[in-house]
Formats: sequence, structure tokens, C-alpha cells
Amino acid sequence: MRLAKYLAHGGVASRRASEEIIREGRVTVGGEIVTDPARDVDDASGVAVDGVAVRGAEHRVVFVVHKPAGYVSTAKDTHDRRKVTDLIPGSHGRLYPVGRLDADSTGLLLLTNDGDLAHRLTHPSFEVPKTYRVKVAKSPISQRAVERLRQGVRLDDGRTAPARVVRVSPSVLEITIHEGRKHQVKRMCEAVGHPVTSLQRIRFGPLELGDMAVGAARPLTGAEVERLRRSGV
Ligand code: URA
Repeated sequence: MRLAKYLAHGGVASRRASEEIIREGRVTVGGEIVTDPARDVDDASGVAVDGVAVRGAEHRVVFVVHKPAGYVSTAKDTHDRRKVTDLIPGSHGRLYPVGRLDADSTGLLLLTNDGDLAHRLTHPSFEVPKTYRVKVAKSPISQRAVERLRQGVRLDDGRTAPARVVRVSPSVLEITIHEGRKHQVKRMCEAVGHPVTSLQRIRFGPLELGDMAVGAARPLTGAEVERLRRSGV
């Protein structure tokens, strides 16, 4: 949003008074003095007045959780099941899951109140890569099945884009895709004759699940959010 509006929303001064403050050279963006009230900024820009950081009008947060099996990736559930939002400590207003993991899937899931970011990260046109570690039935996985997954397989809603596939063991694959169709990885594996028995997301763009404990949640740092924002095309 415009710098003057950002200051006004952040409680610094009225819109008009904020324009004055900006013209007086008291405002920095990322450490540099900016005198243009129309400069486009957001919470990641690092806006300060007289050297004091301004918090955005809307305090945007992004949490990463290690989703356990049995939790649904929705903010509301009509069946009263456990929800991923239940894993977030404190109250942060409405948080929405960024994309979904099936109820029986585990792994890295993001939740945010930043609609722009959620859109950027889930819309297929931005091609943010996600990596899934899957254990499949009918071990060992044949080279032909791996090749088919790499090239793209035909599903009832169309052919999948080429995927990166690494065989970790005779029954475990790491599959990286940048689409996000419903049950996509399970359907891909099923299509090549290896139904999935467990699925965990281990990477989302630049973020790794690493050794995060199952059920744990933490807010991303500003630097992590910035890297996320830049991920994708
Ligand atoms: N693909 C699936 O099939 N399930 C998930 O939970 C995520 C990706």
C-alpha cells in the first residue's frame, strides 16, 4: 500500500500529517530515506519514522506447523474434527491454511492471515515447489514407475506436469510438484501402480520441515517470510 496510508493505518498520524512527515525526510524504508508518500510498501519493507519501526496496520503473521495425522486443514469444520488452527498458540485473528494436506497426511503446513501471500503460494501459476515423502505399497518401485511420475501421468482431471522424483528406498519416494490438485500425489502414485501408504510434506518453497516435532508450531521470521514471498515464478 502507499507509504502515507501505511503510516496512517499503523497509527503514526492522519494520512495528511503522514504525508508531511514523509516529505520532511523523517521516514525510512529498508534504511533509506523516502520522501515519496506514494511509495509502495508492506510489512516486509522495514518502514521506520525517526528511526522507530512502524508496525503495519494489519499485523500479518505466517505460522509453520508440523501437521499430525488426524487433523483437517481447515479453519472451520462442520464435523467437529481436530483442526490445524488448534495447533497455533495464542490468538491471531483468522488464520487460514495455505493449501491443504489430507487429514491422514502429515508434515509442513503454513497458516496465515495474509491473503495475498496465501494466493501467491497456492496458485499454480507461481509454481512454488512442494516436496512430499511418500511410502508406497508394492515394493520395490520400478524404474518405469519413477520415469512415468517424472514425465507426468494422466489423471481424470488432466495430465500432471513433470515432477522431480527421487527414490529414497525400494518403497519410499520424494516427489516434488508445483501443482496442487486434490489428492494429487496419492493419485499420481496410484496411477503408476503404487498406492500411497503414508505421505509427509517435507518442503514448501524455501522452507524445510527439518526436525520440527509433530504437532509443533512457530511463527516464521521476517527473513523466512521474505524468502517465501520471493519463491515461485
Ligand atoms: N497430495 C496428496 O495426495 N495428499 C496431500 O495431502 C498432499 C498432496
